[in-house]
Amino acid sequence: MKASIALFALLPSAITARSLHRRSCTSPPKNNTCVLPSTWSWTSTGPLIGPKDDGRNLAGIKDPSVIFYDGVYHVFASTAKEEGYNLVYMNFTSWEEAPNAEFFYLDQAPLGPGYRAAPQVFWFEPHKLWYLVYQNDNAAYSTNPDISNPAGWTAPKTFYPEMPQIIKDHIGPYYWVDMWVICDEKLCHLFSSDDNGQLYRSETNIEDFPEGMSEPVIVMSDPDRWRLFEASCIYRVKGAREDQKYLLLVEAIGTDEQRWFRSWTSSKIEGPWTPLAHEEDNAWARSNNVVFEEGVDAWTKSISHGEIVRTHVDQTLTIEPCGIEFLYQGMDPSFSHLPYNALPWRLALIRHNWECTCS
Ligand SMILES: *[C@@H]1O[C@H](CO)[C@@H](O)[C@H](O)[C@H]1NC(C)=O
Ligand SMILES: *[C@@H]1O[C@H](CO)[C@@H](O)[C@H](O)[C@H]1NC(C)=O
Repeated sequence: MKASIALFALLPSAITARSLHRRSCTSPPKNNTCVLPSTWSWTSTGPLIGPKDDGRNLAGIKDPSVIFYDGVYHVFASTAKEEGYNLVYMNFTSWEEAPNAEFFYLDQAPLGPGYRAAPQVFWFEPHKLWYLVYQNDNAAYSTNPDISNPAGWTAPKTFYPEMPQIIKDHIGPYYWVDMWVICDEKLCHLFSSDDNGQLYRSETNIEDFPEGMSEPVIVMSDPDRWRLFEASCIYRVKGAREDQKYLLLVEAIGTDEQRWFRSWTSSKIEGPWTPLAHEEDNAWARSNNVVFEEGVDAWTKSISHGEIVRTHVDQTLTIEPCGIEFLYQGMDPSFSHLPYNALPWRLALIRHNWECTCS
């Protein structure tokens, strides 16, 4: 491990770390012709959010969902230790403040204790309610009229009566994880993964949401399960070219056993999905296209489960194509021998090193 860390520190740092201000389009989109880059590169912070010394004895903070709303970052994440998972909420007004943010553990809300993990937060405009979607051995959700009242998250309800048959047929000995909801004008779609190389999608009419999810279909499949592993995110890209209206990210496990992200685009949430940057030597986000801010050690080789910071908070999951920031989980690789649930995951931010090309 020592040797590989030393190698990692030798990665070229051609891109000098930039300060923490948000970047914007060099020329703002005029007619839906922002073009996403086909090669990506990023600058990472050090770890910003980790377990507190508060008696909970957590090993890791994981799987963040993040929005910037009314001048405040709101982060939901999984809490992990060997005994199992639950959820935590925190807020702060700048990333410099993130390490000091107070934790509100969501097992104190009606959402309750027990297995809950991998949250996704959004505002469902038709109901004027916040939704938190997460896994609890099924695909679950809670709602809340007020994002600032973390004690208000309701008891879990599920999207399906039980694990759908098509997932039972393909999951093998693995896990049904990482539920994700995104809506267009007519439909709400629910994505999930089986850690066995399948990405699934269900749909329901937006008027019926959250009821009426269809039997899932397989969106994409890979016989090498590590290449299509988990943690999918699907976004609508504001001002994008028609064929890049939607961006799909899926986490993979690399040939170096470290986590990384692949990307695809489509004109429709239903797909088909066209590869954008999806190989190890041309990744969406991987250790080989991430440098660290000046003065920050190369503390992680995994760029694992995360979310793009959203400033549009509704069910369309719209992102700005310029100045993308991705809150992810990373880990000191010298701990990788520990049991999976005891791994010391920490949250950090990568910022895209790219000026937009919009016309
Ligand atoms: C921030 O979180 C605390 C709980 O830790 C909550 O009481 C407060 O309302 C939140 N603030 C905002 C602005 O959402
Ligand atoms: C609008 O988009 C088209 C391509 O879709 C491009 O050819 C045209 O130059 C664009 N117009 C402006 C004003 O950017």
